[in-house]
Amino acid sequence: MNLTEKIVKLKKEKKALILAHNYQRPEIQDIADYVGDSIELSRRAMQEKDSEILIFAAVDFMAESAAILNPEKKVLLPSLGARCPMAQMLTVDEIKRAKTHYPAAPVVLYVNTLATSKAYCDICCTSANAVEVVNSLNADTILFGPDRNLAEYVAEKTGKTLIPIPEWGFCPTHLLFQPEDVTLLKVEYPDAAVMVHPECSAEMREVADFVGSTSKMCRYANESDAKNIIVATEEGILHRLRKENPEKHFILAYQGAVCPNMKLTTLERLYSSLKDEKHVVKVPETIAKKARTALEKMSQIKS
Ligand code: 13P
Ligand code: SF4
Repeated sequence: MNLTEKIVKLKKEKKALILAHNYQRPEIQDIADYVGDSIELSRRAMQEKDSEILIFAAVDFMAESAAILNPEKKVLLPSLGARCPMAQMLTVDEIKRAKTHYPAAPVVLYVNTLATSKAYCDICCTSANAVEVVNSLNADTILFGPDRNLAEYVAEKTGKTLIPIPEWGFCPTHLLFQPEDVTLLKVEYPDAAVMVHPECSAEMREVADFVGSTSKMCRYANESDAKNIIVATEEGILHRLRKENPEKHFILAYQGAVCPNMKLTTLERLYSSLKDEKHVVKVPETIAKKARTALEKMSQIKS
């Protein structure tokens, strides 16, 4: 029996469900029960009734959110090192400091944050629903963290004032995309459509035909008439895009756009985590209770 077959067998025996992010390695996406963006994974985890174990092939904050929303289930993160550096950029002290300067401003936090930070916010958002979440608030000035690029994008779309906390939170992978690379690719593929993740810079948004979360990009690619599509997000998404659209040609806007944290999940680590039920993600209930309110409020927003 190969590793994939062993995982499939064990998964059935243990009533486990594998949820994988769109950036995961191809072999992990292929073995997963569900592949999606942050909001879809969190929704899927909330709806899950039959499984006893949720394996999050993703990074820490996604597994933490699932553990917060499903306190009765065992949530496993196959590689403990799979941490999103952006989530580490916002501390509770930073939020408290910002609140002293803007006491009336609600705090909106991107799900790419640690549970301790989520416990101090009014509502969470993902890149798929950030505009709708901010529009749902009865306030014109909003504290928003940790991604400054997403804050700027949402401010543009809503006309509201978003104060970024921290001042310069960013994703190291999405920062690699430069509009010059797109310009060069457009010489070769003049008719190509350009899809850009909102974690990219404002300059990248300017060259985009479409800006959206990873799953919204998949939807755009399905519906677009373009045969060539330039993609400005982490390279793992190309596997899903190519699988779902074999007749289309996808070009990564920058070849080095790899999130090393997402790639820490391997079949070996997934198998070992499931076999020994190790790397259980737990959030203390005092923190989980507050963070859950912020996540549940987000889930009620239509996007
Ligand atoms: P999505 O919600 O668009 O999948 O993004 C998550 C993420 O970590 C992007 O870097
Ligand atoms: Fe975090 Fe960026 Fe990796 Fe997404 S791509 S998990 S934001 S480091």
